[in-house]
Amino acid sequence: MARPRILVTRPITEDALALLRADGDVTVGPGDREATRQETLDSLRDADGILIVGHTKVDGALLDAAPKLRMVANFGVGVDHIDVAAATARKVWVSNTAGSLTETTAELGWALILSTVRRVAEGDRLVRAGQWKGFGAFFFLGTELPGKTLGIVGAGRIGQAVARKAPAFGMKAIYWSRTPKPDFGAPPRELDALLRESDVVVLTVSLNAETRHLIGAREIGLMKKSAFLVNIARGPVVDEAALAGALVEGRLAGAGLDVYEKEPEIHPDLLRCPNAVLAPHIGSATVETRRRMGLLAAQNLLAGLRGELPPLVLNPAARDPGPRAS
Ligand code: DGY
Repeated sequence: MARPRILVTRPITEDALALLRADGDVTVGPGDREATRQETLDSLRDADGILIVGHTKVDGALLDAAPKLRMVANFGVGVDHIDVAAATARKVWVSNTAGSLTETTAELGWALILSTVRRVAEGDRLVRAGQWKGFGAFFFLGTELPGKTLGIVGAGRIGQAVARKAPAFGMKAIYWSRTPKPDFGAPPRELDALLRESDVVVLTVSLNAETRHLIGAREIGLMKKSAFLVNIARGPVVDEAALAGALVEGRLAGAGLDVYEKEPEIHPDLLRCPNAVLAPHIGSATVETRRRMGLLAAQNLLAGLRGELPPLVLNPAARDPGPRAS
């Protein structure tokens, strides 16, 4: 049987690549950027499997251009860049790395909360600019967390992990979710109620048609003027222009963002807002987590190519398990 051809869209750790190379012929995409659509189409033509690192768009047209493709393994949890229904219709399994980055992304959520409410990034810029004139009783005041309310929007794995750390900072966590989460010990709030009540709102929902612009001008208008918004989900969950407007006009105290509507572009007004902490989509970016993600994605991919149901498959019904189903 011919060795499967595998496209890895951007470099991953050597141990994951070695796993893939043991079973297949592997092509790795560019290290310094995401491959263009045309580059991906060219490399995918004869491929049996693709491991997506980043947000390469996988739609019906791309799948049609790769007639041998049987497996799409995503390096990451969010699959809003992959048309899973189109893959299912073409008998292609899709997998992700659910569970591999929960705590890491929750930590980044807290890093953004703390650096936003305590103005850490703004202070760093001030010091580097040589503008610090020394200690003062009213200098660079932030907001304290004990006694405040943390509103989690989307209480999946990551949202629950963010909430678990709330008591360590003296905060009460409330949440919005379609299904009640017993760990919170309370039913979910309505979204509007959560936005009105929270001092810090953290977004962890996955992106889909219902959550696109879930937080727009109306929703931001419901939040306290003293509240902070943190987004570790996906950029398009927030109407970035509405958020930038609210920050510029002082209708919101601050925002901590790891994700943007058109990455890597950022709304110019956000760049001008001193009260916005802007991280470059690094929620899962630790050495340990990225290694775990690579290995999991590789294991999913190889299982699928062997005709076995991948451990973290999202559309199990796409194919019947079995060798080289076509
Ligand atoms: C994820 O896992 O969804 C990360 O944001 C990378 O896409």
